[in-house]
Amino acid sequence: MKRRNFLKLSTVTSLWLLTGCGGGGTNSSGVDGGLANSTNKLTIPPLLTGTDVNGVKNYDLTIQKATHTFFTGLSTNTYAVNGTYLAPTLKLTNGDEVSINYTNKLDETTTMHGHGMHVPADMDGAAHQPIESGATWSAKYTVNQRACTNWYHPHLMGKTAEHVYKGLAGLIIVEDDEINALDLPKEYGVDDIPLILQDRFFDSNGQIDYSPSRREIMMGYHGDVFITNGVINAFIDVANKEVRFRILNGSNSTVYDLAFDDGRTFKQIGTDNSLLESPVPITHIRLSPAERAEIVVDFSSDLNKTILFKDVAQNKNFLKVKVTKETINTTTTPNTLTTLNRHTLDQAVRTRTFSLSASGPGDFRINGVSMNMSVINERVPLNDVEIWEVTNTMGMNHNFHIHDSHFIIAKRNGSEANVLENEKGYKDTVFLSGNDTVTLIVKMTDFTSSTKPYMYHCHFLEHEDAGMMGQFTVE
Ligand code: C2O
Ligand code: CU
Ligand code: CU
Repeated sequence: MKRRNFLKLSTVTSLWLLTGCGGGGTNSSGVDGGLANSTNKLTIPPLLTGTDVNGVKNYDLTIQKATHTFFTGLSTNTYAVNGTYLAPTLKLTNGDEVSINYTNKLDETTTMHGHGMHVPADMDGAAHQPIESGATWSAKYTVNQRACTNWYHPHLMGKTAEHVYKGLAGLIIVEDDEINALDLPKEYGVDDIPLILQDRFFDSNGQIDYSPSRREIMMGYHGDVFITNGVINAFIDVANKEVRFRILNGSNSTVYDLAFDDGRTFKQIGTDNSLLESPVPITHIRLSPAERAEIVVDFSSDLNKTILFKDVAQNKNFLKVKVTKETINTTTTPNTLTTLNRHTLDQAVRTRTFSLSASGPGDFRINGVSMNMSVINERVPLNDVEIWEVTNTMGMNHNFHIHDSHFIIAKRNGSEANVLENEKGYKDTVFLSGNDTVTLIVKMTDFTSSTKPYMYHCHFLEHEDAGMMGQFTVE
């Protein structure tokens, strides 16, 4: 019989004891119990700024099998880019010509998709750009979008969830002159901290266990061990100043409700694809899989304090923030960050509707059909403002992601008032709880092809792999 969550949990707990990390090991509700706290310093993914080759910035990335130390004294088999788990952070500048070169050293085919990147369909790295074992594929384009935090991950039909779960995911930071001129924390890894939040199951040998049952495909595969940048029970030392976190929900199917343990107010400054026009003060933020948020937290009066950053939905910690350094180099996040180009509902020339449904476990659909690589479900005219109305016909959570372009969330359940202040930046992924309908304003720009499609899908990866995905062209 297949192991259930409780068994998974207890095997990990005993594993902690086994490896001599002590500390009781029974604290399953927080990553504080069990592991050797002092060694779990948050890993900061290396920052790649590209190597100039005749005016093109080249990023050379190797997708490989590796082993990573999640548990002291234990090697866990992973997939990774360059390192041992996850991938380097790519820093791109708006206007730059780039060539992101992926060499696949796995024993199997994968792909690498730039999630949130505004690029031609054949540079999207999704299901139609497979990288076979031993091959190199390059995403070549001119960066043409606002500053934001995007990410890259595999997108192979039916295999996305497994490849991401094994460790393939990394951040893409897009910069522009506007954001660089703002008085924001911007020293990468020091006061500008990337946080890739995930949860994983490990088997009794400390190996990553991706083996969803039919029910887990239905409900999403939720690991019981929380991981931040590949580190369990991570801590970071920061200075008593404003600190910015670029947060990615990198889980397969878990919705996080993120907050600090003292309930403090912090500022959200960015959504998936842009800054917010003004910082939004909030005490917690809900992120569904693939959504990003940039926040600024003021630690100026917290010297010598330790603050926990956690998922309050499951009451588990992601990061222990230790304010141990004293500094006089401060920043003051401005009250105005940017001006967004917000199209309005009355500018829309047509409405497309999308309904999310299932016809049984393991068979997820959009508008009644499952993803078919050879079917173009929607043809979208270039530069038209459109309304995409997405309805979750089920009682369970989903989300909806559109490739190529950002969107504005105009309404939730028919009302503008239901759109949260911190959802009002450019988005590429929107959360839908049971039976929600969201009204999105979408405009496809710049790239056309009647044969090369982009994708839209639920980003709960088990659902995506089980068919809750469709294709559109921009013509
Ligand atoms: Cu994260 Cu189809 O993408
Ligand atoms: Cu995407
Ligand atoms: Cu879903």
